[in-house]
Formats: sequence, structure tokens, C-alpha cells
Amino acid sequence: IKILVLNGPNLNLLGTRESDIYGKKNLTQIVQQLVKIAKKYKIELEHFQSNSESSLINKVHQSKHIIHYILFNPAAFTHTSIALRDALLAVKIPFIEIHISNIYSRETFRSHSWFSDISNGIICGLGEEGYSWALKTAINRLINVDN
Ligand code: DQA
Repeated sequence: IKILVLNGPNLNLLGTRESDIYGKKNLTQIVQQLVKIAKKYKIELEHFQSNSESSLINKVHQSKHIIHYILFNPAAFTHTSIALRDALLAVKIPFIEIHISNIYSRETFRSHSWFSDISNGIICGLGEEGYSWALKTAINRLINVDN
């Protein structure tokens, strides 16, 4: 079983970028924590971050028949990318949408997502811990164990 953690633009700057909003942990630390959880359940975890919409779309395409679940923080593309939405619809891989911050308590343009209605769940405003919760849920759904 293989899970893909997919992160959109500017998330490579986590830890230094607006740390009052996005926290002090960097992406490597977050991913390490996720790998630890996945290992416990003998699940393979892949991570991909890109600032480019086309690279993210290509990654989604390449995931067909390989990836069983996607944990996706589309970052700013949340609010803009119909192309990424269409890519997820095309490959039919279930995914959980993640936002570190509460997008509903910020600028109004952040309160619309092109992904929420086609997602298998949304985590928002739980900080970096949101990734771990999403992973635990994905594992639960894939192997149906208590954790
Ligand atoms: C974000 C929220 C988005 O509005 C923003 O553009 C991001 C990160 C979050 O994780 O809270 O880059 O997806």
C-alpha cells in the first residue's frame, strides 16, 4: 500500500514562512514524522512538493494505479486550480485535503476551495498535526485497523 503526500507552492518554506500562521516545523520534519507513522503499518509513503502547477498535475497523473491515497495540501492552488481538480478527478485516487491554517478565518478569497467537494475529507486549522491526523485516517480507511 502506498500513500502520496503532495504539497503545493511555498510549502517548501515551512518553518520560516509566516510561522505565526504556519508554525515552526519545516517540511522535512513534518514528512519524517509521517514516515514514522506509515512505517508502523508497513505502508510506503512518498512525498512530493512543487511550486509548479504542471509538476503537481504530472505527479497526480503518474500516481494512477500506483498510489492508493493522496494527502494533499494544494496551498494557494486550492483557490485557483481547476486543472489540478480535473487531474484528481481523472485518476480517481481518493484524497484528503489539508490546510495547516484555518482558511475560513483568513482573507475571504481563501474560503473557496476547488477541491473540498471532490475530496474524501478536509482537515483545516489543526497546524502541522493535520498531516498526521490525515495520514492516520487514510491508513484506517486502507487497512481498516484502529490507531
Ligand atoms: C494553506 C492555505 C492557503 O490559503 C495558502 O495559500 C497556503 C497554505 C494552508 O496550509 O493553510 O499556502 O493551504
